[in-house]
Amino acid sequence: MLKVATQQILILQVNKNLQIMDKAKKEKRYFRIYEQLKQILSASSFEDAKMATILAVLHHKMEYFFWTGFYVLHKGELTVKTYQGPLACQVLEKDKGVCWAAIKSNKTIIVEDVHRFEGHIACDSRSKSEIAVPLQNSFGKPTGVLDVDSAEYNSFDEVDAHWLEMIVKLI
Ligand code: SME
Repeated sequence: MLKVATQQILILQVNKNLQIMDKAKKEKRYFRIYEQLKQILSASSFEDAKMATILAVLHHKMEYFFWTGFYVLHKGELTVKTYQGPLACQVLEKDKGVCWAAIKSNKTIIVEDVHRFEGHIACDSRSKSEIAVPLQNSFGKPTGVLDVDSAEYNSFDEVDAHWLEMIVKLI
């Protein structure tokens, strides 16, 4: 009986560690991902291929990325382009939510608790925190966003912002 109890405690600790990624671990992980993406993306100048590859690598290497995708401005609407994760909203209501906030401010938006962000658009009720990073054209004007949701609160910080901003520049 004692043996079983000890094993249960160990399993709980492992799960807790998986959910929390500290800043140092994030830095190392992003550095490796960035170096890998730089090399892979140089093989094609096709934007769609670069976007799909960025999402595949990020979504499968960052365990707290629950939904990872691109929304792009198309005829004045913010429309989903490509993504990994559960089914997404196709078009985001204009001037509402986290992605539009990133477009309008042309700045990365970090939301610790989506339920406390006025106007947040919930495509999936399991999402609890979010980061939206603007994509910019050669004049610095926003053309879309890289959007990532986590099923845990407070998953994103300045380390995510820094590296995701670097990664979208590779497109
Ligand atoms: N939550 C976003 C909508 C996109 S989904 O998270 C996939 C927003 O408020 O803009």
